[in-house]
Amino acid sequence: MKSTIVMTGANRGIGRVAAELILDGSPDTHLVVVARGNAGARVAEELGPDSVSHVAVDLASLASVRSGAEEIGRRLDAGELPPLAGFVGNAGIQHTNALTETEDGFESTFAVNVLANHLFVRLLQNRFTVPARIVLTVSDTHFGDFRHNLGMVPGPEWHSPDSLSRTAAFAKPATTAAGRTAYSTSKLAAIYLVHEYARRLPTGVEAIAFNPGFVPGTDLARHADPFSRFAMRRVLPALTLTPLAATRAAAGRNLAGVVLGDIPAPTGSYVDRDRPAPSSGESYDPQREAEIWSTAEQLIAAYAA
Ligand SMILES: NC(=O)c1ccc[n+]([C@@H]2O[C@H](COP(=O)([O-])OP(=O)(O)OC[C@H]3O[C@@H](n4cnc5c(N)ncnc54)[C@H](OP(=O)(O)O)[C@@H]3O)[C@@H](O)[C@H]2O)c1
Repeated sequence: MKSTIVMTGANRGIGRVAAELILDGSPDTHLVVVARGNAGARVAEELGPDSVSHVAVDLASLASVRSGAEEIGRRLDAGELPPLAGFVGNAGIQHTNALTETEDGFESTFAVNVLANHLFVRLLQNRFTVPARIVLTVSDTHFGDFRHNLGMVPGPEWHSPDSLSRTAAFAKPATTAAGRTAYSTSKLAAIYLVHEYARRLPTGVEAIAFNPGFVPGTDLARHADPFSRFAMRRVLPALTLTPLAATRAAAGRNLAGVVLGDIPAPTGSYVDRDRPAPSSGESYDPQREAEIWSTAEQLIAAYAA
């Protein structure tokens, strides 16, 4: 049966590979690419306008997320899209400070990596035809130890979710370390939300956190200094010859596998590359999970009604 999957972060990096493989593996899928500017139109042109359409959304703006979700809803209602079977929140951003603020007044990493996904999930949750699957791309960095971050990204620092949503939540907020702490913390927050989704979403709507591993050669470090960008593009890809890093192709293949259910994983689980595995001990915390749910609900309230 034909079905629709809505996907963010499909226009480059890991997501671009996954988008192609989702369509190859499931030719009955219609992919709605949610991307900034005309990036989605480009993907539709490349992958075929019959199986891909696009919605222009800047995930750093809650108003833009809402209008994108409304457009998808209208197209579902009009029968222009087949039934909705999935949402893939793969887009992500990493800054070199914790001071970048969105038009809504939120710290940008938190806005894109946490709030945009949450608003999409909440606006789409009653539109899914079960069985349906939500996949959020998270990160190894939420562990915070050397084995998982190779010393490149500081571990998460949990504070009250309201303070995490604002700039300057971390010490020395103008530094790269603070920006990367905001990143690992946002991914921990996303795992907490996946646990909440598994408990709260309608039966048959599954939620999974996917960790691609370290994937050098994408544009995730685009805001970093020239030396780090050079290392990410030209030097660190050598690590993909070792178990320490994954190629874009492998990470995209795994993401597509989780989205299509070829990598079986129960709702609420964490998929480490190609198999379900425990996430960090810190990431199982019902009290924090309830807190982040409740704060995220308040922060998106004006757009979710
Ligand atoms: N690379 C790694 O080592 C690694 C490791 C663990 C997890 N991840 C996660 O994997 C996911 C994909 O990252 P990647 O490595 O493939 O990086 P990437 O090449 O930079 O891709 C990031 C994607 O997110 C989109 N995005 C960012 N901000 C957006 C916004 N405001 N509105 C709309 N789209 C936005 C980008 O769109 P634009 O083209 O418009 O910027 C792009 O499609 C992210 O969630 C990242 O955190 C990556």
